[in-house]
Amino acid sequence: MTGIRKTIAVLPGDGIGPEVIRAAISVVEECARGFSHRFEFVELPFGGAAIDQCGEPLPRETMKACRKADAVLLGAVGGAKWDSQPLDRRPEAGLLGLRKELGLYINVRPIRLLESLRAISPLRMEQNATIDMEIVRELAGGIYFGPRQSSGSNGDEVASDTEIYSSKEIERVALYAFRRAAARRGQLASIDKANVLVSSGLWRRTAQRIAKDFPEVQFESLYVDNAALQIILRPAQFDVILTSNMFGDILSDEAAALVGSIGLIPSMSLGKGTALYEPIHGSAPQLAGKDSANPIGTILCAAMMLRESFGLPAEAAAIEKAVAYALSRGFRTPDIAKRGAQTVGCTEMAARVRGAVAESHAETERYGWGV
Ligand code: IPM
Ligand code: MN
Repeated sequence: MTGIRKTIAVLPGDGIGPEVIRAAISVVEECARGFSHRFEFVELPFGGAAIDQCGEPLPRETMKACRKADAVLLGAVGGAKWDSQPLDRRPEAGLLGLRKELGLYINVRPIRLLESLRAISPLRMEQNATIDMEIVRELAGGIYFGPRQSSGSNGDEVASDTEIYSSKEIERVALYAFRRAAARRGQLASIDKANVLVSSGLWRRTAQRIAKDFPEVQFESLYVDNAALQIILRPAQFDVILTSNMFGDILSDEAAALVGSIGLIPSMSLGKGTALYEPIHGSAPQLAGKDSANPIGTILCAAMMLRESFGLPAEAAAIEKAVAYALSRGFRTPDIAKRGAQTVGCTEMAARVRGAVAESHAETERYGWGV
């Protein structure tokens, strides 16, 4: 494929956000060089950093640039410094605002066990069992965006959040999950709490109705408490999981732990506007500035962006293979190292992945195929 041009809005955000973003950009640039693509990265203030700089977590200029870009790559937001602010003025409100403004109602979180990390999974996995699932999380509705209230004072207070879903909101994300399942191993588990919540009853009925249009997909509905247990007892049997905004937030952290670290997991958000790519790990303030964060989640976000938004599967595969290669050579950030084992920092991990990308270009040039 001849070279393409793309503009990427980059929102480093807070905590380890800027470090992992820098790492991922360096890998994408190496990859772009080898394939003769031209990517322009436009960096913008966002989250706590934007509160400090511009007085709000999602400045208008940032929003405008995200709308115009071909994709958005985001680090993480949040930190103790802004925790005393009211909820609607915190960095997290900027993230929810960005998702909402871009109309991103689908969030895909692939959870894959990488072969060289089998030994650090907290599960005793059978020799040839693997974990390869995708969590499709509804991202623009539910309790995250429902009406909220709090009143009273001094130990006599009442607060409420509201979970609201319409059949249309459930349908659009469910359709995507069914198609995704049909293109993978053909299994879909929809997760709700329909034995207690009416909004979940609607979720279940809607998913079951759509299931009829996908006879090739093996479908089941699970209650969220049971699903939390099944994900640990039989992770290999999950293919695509469809769930609400809040259940998806919780279950994706749980599933991430099974494959070694939350630092490894990318995510992609899709809907009406520009697609957004962000690692699921958050800002990890305790690691910020220490060069010990794991950049792999964000590097894999970049690979996902190349494949899903730019239609560049070979480039995405080159980055994913480079990650697997760096891990197979034994390079480990602290979050994925065994106790007492030698570790590398965020910059060195990125350099190792970059090196493997460059190596595979060199091989391609020499022999006409990659390593
Ligand atoms: C995530 C995060 C966010 C969420 C926070 C930071 C608002 O936990 O992307 O998983 O809850 O969606
Ligand atoms: Mn989360």
